Amino acid sequence: MSGARLRADGALALFHVLEQGQSLRHSFAQVQARHSERDRAWLQEMVYGVLRNLPQLQLWLRQLVQKPLKSKQKVVEHLLLLGLYQLAYSRVSTHAAVAETVGACEKLKCNGLKGLVNACLRNFLRQELAKQLTEDPQIRSGLPKWLYQRLSENYSTDLHKVVTAINERPPVWLRVNTQQVSKEAFCEALSDHGILFDGEVAQVPYGIILRKGYDLTTLPGYQQGWFSAQDGAAQLAGPLLNAQAGDRVLDACAAPGGKTCHILERQPKLSECIALDVDPQRLQVVAENLTRLQLSATLKQGDAAHPDSWWDGNPFDRILLDAPCSATGVIRRHPDIRWLRKDSDIGKLQATQEHILEAVWPLLKPGGTLLYATCSILAEENRQQIQRFLRRHDDAQLSPVSSEETPENPGWQILPGHMEMDGFYYARLIKC
Ligand SMILES: C[S@@+](CC[C@H](N)C(=O)[O-])C[C@H]1O[C@@H](n2cnc3c(N)ncnc32)[C@H](O)[C@@H]1O
Repeated sequence: MSGARLRADGALALFHVLEQGQSLRHSFAQVQARHSERDRAWLQEMVYGVLRNLPQLQLWLRQLVQKPLKSKQKVVEHLLLLGLYQLAYSRVSTHAAVAETVGACEKLKCNGLKGLVNACLRNFLRQELAKQLTEDPQIRSGLPKWLYQRLSENYSTDLHKVVTAINERPPVWLRVNTQQVSKEAFCEALSDHGILFDGEVAQVPYGIILRKGYDLTTLPGYQQGWFSAQDGAAQLAGPLLNAQAGDRVLDACAAPGGKTCHILERQPKLSECIALDVDPQRLQVVAENLTRLQLSATLKQGDAAHPDSWWDGNPFDRILLDAPCSATGVIRRHPDIRWLRKDSDIGKLQATQEHILEAVWPLLKPGGTLLYATCSILAEENRQQIQRFLRRHDDAQLSPVSSEETPENPGWQILPGHMEMDGFYYARLIKC
């Protein structure tokens, strides 16, 4: 496939995310099929790079192109961002970056803008703009203003650390399915296949970190369900919920089922595990994951905030509420999130989380455990949410999951990069 086609597809992917609000996964799905694995990896690297450095790239773009492009030509602005990224941040040769980016105009049916793209990239080189990085900390952070502001309020002293971690490339974690294979045997199989990995990961007993990129479907035991891809922080949910034999468990927001599967792998003798999700398509993925891992659960499609429509009246011993959230803890893995989320989403998400918490709490048996989890790093969705819940419910008691936890500072906020994990939050509540 030509370099021009690749760059045109990169521009289209960026256009879908930044102008149409599509997720990058969805957007890539539309363009990736026509490229080889190697080209797909290159495309991802470039598009992720643009999304991680967008404010600086846009600043340069405004210096080079005074008038924003309109309607059908808008995609050429995204092509230019991709061109600037190649010149400023990648090892792509200057010649290829300019020639192939100009060539991409044809693929985007914007032949008339070839001259503009050529002039813009050449001016960027001539003016040595790559050396002129802004001092503005928000632009340098690669984050939108609203998110930078919220993180500044949340993490005054740790801000730099958090922002740096958000922009790093995360490793791929695996979770061993000990119902199918022991961790030792799996590690041996990986070594036999020459896979580079770390098998000793503190606090995450069944976790493995891959040290190189691999197609996971080609790793030993994929078809037999020996492992799943799951970040280390997400692997803490199962142990913290600690379901026991005979327990009735509700996973209230279950799809795509990573944590449901882990709960079942840890304790195969539950009386029942209900995996609930509001989204039927995502629930289908839970079914597929359960099948591959040779596990079984009761799948229910329904709104956790309205149990009347799906609950049979039998209470639960354990509830996992992995609530819908801003996903600010996993931005390093999904750089599109920073541009898809809006400031106004946070209040709405907070309200949804509260509704679901209120709705599922009565479903818990006295003495039962509810584990609240989010992949957010914003106190609004985490600590403050649980503080308010504890104030409203005399029958809720905090069961600490970290040594720093107090009733005033409930839960465990894991920051991105901590022990190579994603940003995550856990709070465990016991019903008195
Ligand atoms: C953070 S994801 C859950 C990830 C999952 N626990 C895992 O480990 O694979 C949140 C899920 O909540 C679901 N969801 C959102 N609102 C919901 C609601 N009101 N009731 C049930 N599920 C909901 C979404 O469809 C999404 O699948």
